[in-house]
Amino acid sequence: MSSLQELLLSRIKDVPDYPEPGIVFKDITPLLADPAAFTALTDALADICLRQGATKVVGLEARGFILGAPVAVRAGVGFVPARKAGKLPGATLGQSYALEYGTAEIEIHADALTPHDRVLVIDDVLATGGTARASLELIGRTGAQVAGVAVLMELGFLRGRERLEPALAGAPLEAL
Ligand code: PRP
Repeated sequence: MSSLQELLLSRIKDVPDYPEPGIVFKDITPLLADPAAFTALTDALADICLRQGATKVVGLEARGFILGAPVAVRAGVGFVPARKAGKLPGATLGQSYALEYGTAEIEIHADALTPHDRVLVIDDVLATGGTARASLELIGRTGAQVAGVAVLMELGFLRGRERLEPALAGAPLEAL
């Protein structure tokens, strides 16, 4: 494990039985509260953004906003929020995805991305991959290219990577 990984892991708190019994929630608030750890995370994600030649960061609500916005600033690219349905004021593109029970939908502004953009998707956790996959499908509908997906944590046992791979079409999924 690298020193960056040790630092990040030491600032993520496991919360058992939240939000329901049997789930171990990964709480990143201690990491966000530590300027050295938050800066190291931002720098590592910004490196990915620059390496992949992204022109936009799409952050997934809500923790993807917290991580993605400083990365966009650091990398000198624009930030686009992918919001839960009904929160954006302008014309939107929406994509629904399956949850364990029912469905959810994320939206971006219809004019937020163009075919000239290369987009890096940023979020805190890749779990089942449903949210990230929906974001890639949305990005695809704008004509923009996918530069990749970058997350702080990948919960490998949920096999989100497998679910995401068809939509990535060869672009990298990087989990710090
Ligand atoms: C969590 C997490 C990711 C997503 C991962 O967000 O921050 O966005 O779930 O799960 P998946 O890979 O199974 O789709 P959540 O939907 O809880 O929203 P929040 O950040 O607004 O609380």
